[in-house]
Amino acid sequence: MERLHQSPAWMALEKHQAALAQVHLRGLFRADPQRFQAHSHDLGPVWVDFSKNLITEETWTLLEGLAAEAGLFARRDAMFAGEPINATERRAVLHTALRSPSGRPVILEGRDVSVDVHGVLQQMFALVDTFHRDALFGATGAPLRAVVHLGIGGSDLGPAMVCDALRAHARPGVEVRFASNVDGADLDLALRGLDPRETLIVVASKTFTTVETFTNARAAVEWLAAAVGREGVGAHLAAITASPAAAHGFGVSADRTFPIWDWVGGRYSLWSAIGLPIALLVGSEGFRSLLDGANAVDEEFRAAPFARNTAAKMGMLSIWYRNFWKFPSKAVLPYAQNLRRLPAYLQQADMESNGKSTTLDGAPVAWSTGPVLFGEPGTNAQHSFFQLLHQGTDVIPADFIAVARTPYPTPRHHAVLLANCLAQTEALLWGRTRDEAMAELTAQGVDALEAARLAPHKVFPGNRPTTTIVLDELRPHTLGMLLALYEHSIFVQGAVWGINSFDQWGVELGKAMATRLLPAMEGAAPGPHHDASTLGLVSVLERFRKSEKG
Ligand code: F6P
Repeated sequence: MERLHQSPAWMALEKHQAALAQVHLRGLFRADPQRFQAHSHDLGPVWVDFSKNLITEETWTLLEGLAAEAGLFARRDAMFAGEPINATERRAVLHTALRSPSGRPVILEGRDVSVDVHGVLQQMFALVDTFHRDALFGATGAPLRAVVHLGIGGSDLGPAMVCDALRAHARPGVEVRFASNVDGADLDLALRGLDPRETLIVVASKTFTTVETFTNARAAVEWLAAAVGREGVGAHLAAITASPAAAHGFGVSADRTFPIWDWVGGRYSLWSAIGLPIALLVGSEGFRSLLDGANAVDEEFRAAPFARNTAAKMGMLSIWYRNFWKFPSKAVLPYAQNLRRLPAYLQQADMESNGKSTTLDGAPVAWSTGPVLFGEPGTNAQHSFFQLLHQGTDVIPADFIAVARTPYPTPRHHAVLLANCLAQTEALLWGRTRDEAMAELTAQGVDALEAARLAPHKVFPGNRPTTTIVLDELRPHTLGMLLALYEHSIFVQGAVWGINSFDQWGVELGKAMATRLLPAMEGAAPGPHHDASTLGLVSVLERFRKSEKG
């Protein structure tokens, strides 16, 4: 594995890349009228079009060879089988079990964890159904109507993104809000205007130790206590955690404590009870559809041959661009305002998973790993960073996500939105040559000298790769499919790179240093072991904080 980059499969891809670098996507489309069909995947309500990528049939064949060389398929099978593939934490990786249908055993260390999964789902759905019947009462006897979910990272980004995405499917009158940041502004906004007597606070933390979540949770408890008395607070709390004893210590009753397990990674946890706010927003049936959508993709990823395995191909395509074209970043561009938080969610999913430089064996990796992922909804993004996508010096492969049907009574908006989505992928593919720019300027009546001056600025190289993913509608099932495609694509990349996509040691050091610096932020003298910049900044902050308000 350490020598993957010296394997025949890797070297064949290098050679293939050098050849393909001489070809323009324009030429590939002109040469093959069937290119769209040949490079598309029809997943029922989801369509994935790979055709505008820098690929040929041979590319897929060679990428499949690399996947086999790297042991991808064995590692995939090990994941589904519950082997401890998260080796540094000695844990299984079984988020797929969270969406596996009831009655299908998933055995881990001799125990059928699917029984636990479906038991917790029943517990969740009982709470959700009571809530929707206005029969979940707070300390004063008023029904709880609003939910404030407190978590961070994987205990926030997934449910927050899904709740945003599915807002058109929300139960009437249900308010679900999120606060994650330890900046008090976040909690202030989340609680603003809510009546504590009608509010359920959900504390979501796998470890139940995360400082941001507990700073917010303690403040929320004070907010509740001021309205319902300290003894009434418990009626307004729920918790989701792998440490139920800690939740009970925090004052959450056993029937409002929802377990998750160490085999569910934080950034893969929205399918677990961490998704409680999703179910509270869209109902138990909606949550089941989300799980079913993800399960459909799990089944394809688990069983389909590479040629028809969408997630495997998405992942290998990312390898193709990162390791053979050396592209440093990738963009995710949902043409759906309700998917505005998808890029932030995927940043954690992808960059916390694959931002690693040590192999499973503890050696430094000999190849590039996870790219920088960024994105914004279209069309807004067109008016910010698309300039760089079209004419910048780096090529940035981009995923465009389009939704065919809108639930909003704005057909004209939707037509403009979709036209822009397709137009951008076409422009990135096609580009504009100098001759074409000259011809356009001349047609506009610009004189020859001025046209020659302007033309170089109006050249678009094109040949910029995009994948277009089309959902029939943004609904729980299709969203579940979309997210599972990305999850497995991330897995594929990590597996080929030989890294552990399921730990996150890189977040530890900063956390430890923040703990050391906290006393200095509360007025104590900083300890001796800080660098000059940090000590200088401590004193600047102290001076500004003590000075008069501006
Ligand atoms: O940022 C590190 C991290 O451990 C993430 O992986 C995780 O999703 C997040 O913190 C929150 O952790 P917890 O759910 O334990 O509060």
